[in-house]
Amino acid sequence: MTIIHISAECYPVAKVGGLADVVGALPKYQNSSDVSSKVIMPFYDNKFTKANTFNKVYSSKLKLGESLIDFNILTLNDNTLGFDIFFVDVPSLIFKDYVYSNDDTERFLAFQIASLDWVSTWDSLPDIIHCHDHHTGLIPFMLQESIKYEAFRDVPNIFTIHNAQYQGWFSHEKVGLIPEFNFNNVGLLDWGGAINPLAAAIKCSWRVTTVSPSYMEELKNAANGLESLLSAEANKCIGVLNGIDTSVWNPETDTYINTNYSIDNFKEGKAGNKKYLCDKFNLDFDKPLFAFIGRLVLEKGADLFPEAFKTTLEKNNASILLLGSGNEDIQTPLENLMGKYDGSYNAFIGYDEALSHNIYAGADFLFMPSRVEPCGLNQMYALRYGTIPIVRSIGGLKDTVTDISETDGFGICHQEITAASMVNAINRAIELYKDSSNYNNIQKQIMAIDHSWDNSAKTYINLYQSIKQLSND
Ligand code: ADP
Ligand code: GLC
Repeated sequence: MTIIHISAECYPVAKVGGLADVVGALPKYQNSSDVSSKVIMPFYDNKFTKANTFNKVYSSKLKLGESLIDFNILTLNDNTLGFDIFFVDVPSLIFKDYVYSNDDTERFLAFQIASLDWVSTWDSLPDIIHCHDHHTGLIPFMLQESIKYEAFRDVPNIFTIHNAQYQGWFSHEKVGLIPEFNFNNVGLLDWGGAINPLAAAIKCSWRVTTVSPSYMEELKNAANGLESLLSAEANKCIGVLNGIDTSVWNPETDTYINTNYSIDNFKEGKAGNKKYLCDKFNLDFDKPLFAFIGRLVLEKGADLFPEAFKTTLEKNNASILLLGSGNEDIQTPLENLMGKYDGSYNAFIGYDEALSHNIYAGADFLFMPSRVEPCGLNQMYALRYGTIPIVRSIGGLKDTVTDISETDGFGICHQEITAASMVNAINRAIELYKDSSNYNNIQKQIMAIDHSWDNSAKTYINLYQSIKQLSND
């Protein structure tokens, strides 16, 4: 079976968030003697593309409205990723030093058209086309409706919603950019008077998945305007929990972290990493270290931090380290806190892959007070590194973290999105930290939880097989 994943991000080539981690891991876990899972992604001007060499396998021109635009398909020389990867190089549109910006409509349309133009030239078409998020949301529509892609009508496609907040809306004035289709069906593109790639994907793909079962349920009541569509299409929707790539996220072998460790020597190992962080960020090693890694946006609950952090830091019994960047009105107050609590609070504003690994390894607790969390990978990385997650019970967080008050519970969960409930959770964590034998037992317990992609990769393969069966019938 040949599967192609089409995505805007893929770790380690280009990463903005968890989408990259998923697309950089799932194909690796799907590959086997009878499955060949490949990735098609855009070719950006970034660190990875500068550091590697590529081989051109195809060149042509794509039609975007009235314009004919040159594109190439490239592959990676010396590919050690664990799956085949192909890059859509559109020098005039896509080769930029960013992944997302305000020109996404044209860039990702060009990406989607070039991908299908190229795949249509293959000797045999793939068995499954698996698209991820709205940047590839017009593919299911084009496969079903575009005149030039008629050969794809029987090729099953799956669409995964990683985050329904972002839908890729654009005006009907740009409908001419989409390859010619029977205009009677233009309604398939529409939601609320705009072209909505996410809605079009939900309508046209053979199956829709989201990245956790709870998020699938929550979408029926909170999907940024798509609630009724998702309820109407419920029969083809399923929640499949993401996994983690345990070859990348393994404290025994992680080359980013200061001190490697396993379940057998985690106390010393975590202490080595905590010391590294505390020295680097001027934090008191003896206090429990709380951390946050992620986008500083409302969705992640980061607006609660200034008040929750101040209340906690005034008591002088915890250290807090933050890694992230985002909305200015959330980021600035967190930057302004730096210097006010020397020895207890610090922040790195920006993106730093190596530092993130060191924080999972060295922190004692990780915050995730998310308003919305389709899956969340950070809590699973934290578990693997023996760091106790403090989460709001929502979406994938609800599916992966059980509160310590429950049987076999190992995390700290709260329901409300208020600074007060965060502070309450922090206080519970501090109490747990003081009870060192219980705390260490929980660390050991969480390091042994298996969140690798093994199970979910199989669930996807079963799903592909079931829809392939439909295309044969
Ligand atoms: P989302 O995709 O919604 O941002 P996820 O929890 O699925 O959230 O994944 C976030 C991924 O991005 C994780 O791999 C996390 O470690 C990483 N990450 C987020 N912010 C940063 C940052 N500032 N520096 C380094 N890695 C980050
Ligand atoms: C999105 C979601 C996040 C999820 C990730 C990978 O970015 O916000 O919760 O873990 O996709 O599926």
